[in-house]
Amino acid sequence: MSRKVTVVEVGPRDGLQNEERFVPTDAKIAFVDALSGSGLPAVEVTAFVSPRKIPQLADADAVFARVVKRPGVRYPVLVPNMKGLERALHAGAGEIAVFTAASDSFNRHNTDASIEESFGRFRPVLEMASAEGVHVRGYVSCAFGCPYEGAISPRTGAEVAARLWDLGCREISLGDTIGVAVPSQVPEVVERTVEAGVPLEALALHFHDTRGTALANVCEALREGVRIFDSSAGGFGGCPYAPGASGNLATEDLVYLLHGMGYETGVALERVATATRLLQPSLGRPPASRVWHALVSAGRVLPPAADRVPPPAV
Ligand code: HMG
Ligand code: MG
Repeated sequence: MSRKVTVVEVGPRDGLQNEERFVPTDAKIAFVDALSGSGLPAVEVTAFVSPRKIPQLADADAVFARVVKRPGVRYPVLVPNMKGLERALHAGAGEIAVFTAASDSFNRHNTDASIEESFGRFRPVLEMASAEGVHVRGYVSCAFGCPYEGAISPRTGAEVAARLWDLGCREISLGDTIGVAVPSQVPEVVERTVEAGVPLEALALHFHDTRGTALANVCEALREGVRIFDSSAGGFGGCPYAPGASGNLATEDLVYLLHGMGYETGVALERVATATRLLQPSLGRPPASRVWHALVSAGRVLPPAADRVPPPAV
């Protein structure tokens, strides 16, 4: 089985959408540019969603237009409907991600629509995306459990995933939105999803580390052959419509684990940690990533220029 793993960085979108503070546009751009310079193959830049729902990303148009577009790096953006797609295309996006859920209740809180209604919104989005040559990823939130409905059957998530695949999404990300998954759930969720028609090589897993089980879940998913994982630099993030959802699995923790286990990602770990350090003053709280703290303690992450001790006067 391949030793290559694709890490999809979702920090600038999933990480920032749930932060109390609004991160200034320039700081967001610097964060994305630092991440895309670290060898990450895909950086989800922002979300073209309702600014009333997610005010933290109200500057999506300006952020996307101004980030450096490095050759070979993918820059997906989150899109909920046709209005989002039009904004994304206008900003120059070449890849989008649509999102629904394995739970109707969660989807209603998140997008004011049932699962069925969200597919009604996606049809024209996928048609236009296809006509414009835009690659589409599909997210299934709450695939391992829901804050409103509790346990979710692996078959339910698998059916939603397969519908997204049939509609034309070419990568499917199953989300543990509230970080309740444990490793013993992972094989069944993966196997049901593949049986339902999503190719294993197109399947991503998106863990949140709310209860400290995210890396154990990754190990189980690796055994199942999954080779795409979403993570967020520093471990910031969550979903405002998933009460208690703390940060995503931290990119530093994921990359450290993968490299230690002999997997290749192409990601320079210390550069990701530097991107996190660059962002941290705008958030005003320490990152959750344990590997980040270990790297800082070892003096392997440079502080942002403004914090550096000035050289002694001569
Ligand atoms: P709605 O209120 O039903 O939309 O929201 P509407 O079509 O009735 O429009 C209402 C107003 O919103 C109108 O403005 C629209 O123009 C505007 P008004 O005429 O009143 O001034 N509007 C928009 N503005 C900008 N961009 C748009 C847009 N669409 C409508 N795209 C909607 C429906 C889906 C838009 C809304 O509920 C929404 O934006 N929800 C997004 C919520 C969100 O971003 N949640 C977090 C991301 S999902 C997540 O984190 C999970 C994930 O990470 C996976 C995991 O963790 O498992 C992906
Ligand atoms: Mg998420």
